Amino acid sequence: MIDLKDKIDLNKLPQHIAIIMDGNGRWAKKRGKLRIFGHESGVKAVRETTEAAAELGIKYITLYAFSTENWDRPKYEIDALMQLLVNTISKETKTLNENNIKLVAIGDLKSLPKDCYQNLNKSIENTANNTRMTLVLALSYSSKWEIIEAVKNIAQKVQNNQILPQNITQNDFSDCLSTSLLGIPDPDLLIRTSDEYRISNFLLWQIAYAELYFTPTLWPDFRKEDLYEAIVNYQKRERRFGKTSEQIKPI
Ligand code: FPP
Repeated sequence: MIDLKDKIDLNKLPQHIAIIMDGNGRWAKKRGKLRIFGHESGVKAVRETTEAAAELGIKYITLYAFSTENWDRPKYEIDALMQLLVNTISKETKTLNENNIKLVAIGDLKSLPKDCYQNLNKSIENTANNTRMTLVLALSYSSKWEIIEAVKNIAQKVQNNQILPQNITQNDFSDCLSTSLLGIPDPDLLIRTSDEYRISNFLLWQIAYAELYFTPTLWPDFRKEDLYEAIVNYQKRERRFGKTSEQIKPI
C-alpha cells in the first residue's frame, strides 16, 4: 500500500503552512474531562505536526495558539493555558535546537503574563540561529490588531515625511505586518481543524491567496498523517492567483 507521505511531491511543497488548532475543548468534553485536558492533549499534536513538517522540508509553520479574543475565556482556563504554554515552550526548546528549528512569535506579546513572556523570549533567543524550519507561534494575536499596528506604523511614517499618503503601496503596508517584519512569507496553505469553517481573525491580509483546508479532525487527534493528507489535497489544487488556467500552464 502506498503511504500517504509517498504521494507528496517534495518539489511542490507549500513553503508556509498556517494552522488554526481548534477543537481541544470539544475533544475533552467528549471524554467527560475539563477543557484544559484537551489543550494538554493538543501539545502532542503540536509536536507531531512540527516534526512532520520539518521532516518534509516545510520552511515555515504558524500555529494559532492564543487569540486576542481568547482573553475573554474564563480566568481559570486562561491561567491554565498560559501555564501550559510556558511549560511546553521551555520543555521543547532543547528538541527545537536538536532539530535546528527556530521559534518566533507574533501577536501582542507584551500582554502575556510576565513569566510566559520571559520564557518565550528565552526560547526565541536560544533558537535564533536555527535554519531548517521556522515555527511561528501566534500568541495574543488577532489580525485586526496586527493591521491596526501596521496602520499606526504607516501613519507615523507619513507624519515624519518619510512617505506621501498617495504613494503608499500594498508592499509598504505588508512590510509593516508582524510576519513581514520577521521575514515570514504569506502562507500557501491554511488548515483549520474541528469542522469549523471560519478564519477567526487569523492572518487576514496574508491569506489573500492561501489554499484553505478544513478537516473534521479535532486538534488533539491531529497526527502526521493528517498533515500529509492536507498537503496531498493542496498539491491537487491549481493556484491561479487571479489568472486563467491557460496563463499559468507551461506551454
Ligand atoms: C482551540 O480549541 C485551541 C486553543 C485556544 C489553544 C491551543 C493550544 C494548544 C494546543 C496548547 C499548546 C500549544 C503550543 C503551541 C505549545 P478550543 O478550546 O477553542 O476548542 P473548542 O472549539 O472545542 O472549544
